[in-house]
Amino acid sequence: MQWSGRMTRTLTILGLESSCDDTAAAVVRQTDDEQAQILSSIVFGQTELHSAFGGVVPEIAARAHAEKLDVSVKQALTEAGVGLHDLDAIAVTAGPGLIGGVISGVMCAKGIAAGTGLPLVGVNHLAGHALTPRLTDGVAYPYLMLLVSGGHCQFLIARGPESFTRLGSTIDDAPGEAFDKTARLLGLQQPGGPSVQAEAENGDPNRYRFPRPLLDRPDCNLSFSGLKTALMRMRDQVVGEKGGLTRQDRADLCAGFQAAIVDVLREKTARAIRLYLEENPACPTVAVAGGVAANSAIRAALKQVCADNGARFLAPPLSLCTDNAAMIAYAGLERFKSGARDGMELGARPRWPLDQSSPAMLGSGKKGAKA
Ligand code: KG4
Ligand code: ZN
Repeated sequence: MQWSGRMTRTLTILGLESSCDDTAAAVVRQTDDEQAQILSSIVFGQTELHSAFGGVVPEIAARAHAEKLDVSVKQALTEAGVGLHDLDAIAVTAGPGLIGGVISGVMCAKGIAAGTGLPLVGVNHLAGHALTPRLTDGVAYPYLMLLVSGGHCQFLIARGPESFTRLGSTIDDAPGEAFDKTARLLGLQQPGGPSVQAEAENGDPNRYRFPRPLLDRPDCNLSFSGLKTALMRMRDQVVGEKGGLTRQDRADLCAGFQAAIVDVLREKTARAIRLYLEENPACPTVAVAGGVAANSAIRAALKQVCADNGARFLAPPLSLCTDNAAMIAYAGLERFKSGARDGMELGARPRWPLDQSSPAMLGSGKKGAKA
């Protein structure tokens, strides 16, 4: 911590992330309550290591994290132009996620903390995503958050660094998982989101009619697993009739599938905004995070639904929507400022719901614990 003559306080935090298939380290700095700055953000992806297996293999992920964590930390410090002695704390994702990866990160952070005497702050990965709008745009509490990724899909009211209310969540797959499975069923490249989106751009969304799961229920819960089953049935029917899929068939299937996801997210977001407005009528901000937020059709629909309901729409830059350590350093910074410290007993948690008062919806999926 540095105190200048005017009694300003500067905090510099190193963050580590290794809960799924990205090994990341970042340095974030904040002076007083001004907007935080990202001094560096290093991400080593593992897509190639897992591509042959059609999903993330936990053991391979954990080993790759263990190999890359020290390299990412070194690089993050060098790029930020700081040394360990300039830091105020080490923040690390302590869950939820694939346990081997989370342990790698927590052990690395503990090693640095033990060697330097720096305080350790454990961070919930989902809180990292949920606080990103404060890191990028200094959004004030409370705000409404939609987390949409390969492992998560939930609406949250963010009230404070450790205070969240879940308005609804997926009861089965996350939308990113549905995109990935669709890509696999159609022989498209992983990760499936970008491939399916690219195909959908040349397709007719009305040729195949996909279901709109749970729209008949009034709540904010979602379901995506039925969409891939519908897609498999449609694909098999076309293959049965014609002996294979043409490029156009594939594009039309992708367009129909994506349109269903867009419709469901649009309608459920409208409901979440209405619920949120009952409690917080003034200047609502709706922010989105997670890899699926990269989808341009989904972004456009969310933007529109916010405009229709008088809410401000905020989408962080894509590099901060997907897994990264800047969000972990920032969430750690907020916890640190509120006085939170973790000791060497900090554990790694495969599951760790943000809203402890809501009933658990999900178990652990292919891409990690969904909480
Ligand atoms: O947040 P993220 O990097 O990792 C976690 O799941 O935590 O999200 C990755 C997911 C993948 O399932 C990927 O297919 C999806 O985000 N994704 C997309 C797009 N880009 C990435 N889904 C739909 N459209 C996209 N353009
Ligand atoms: Zn994530």
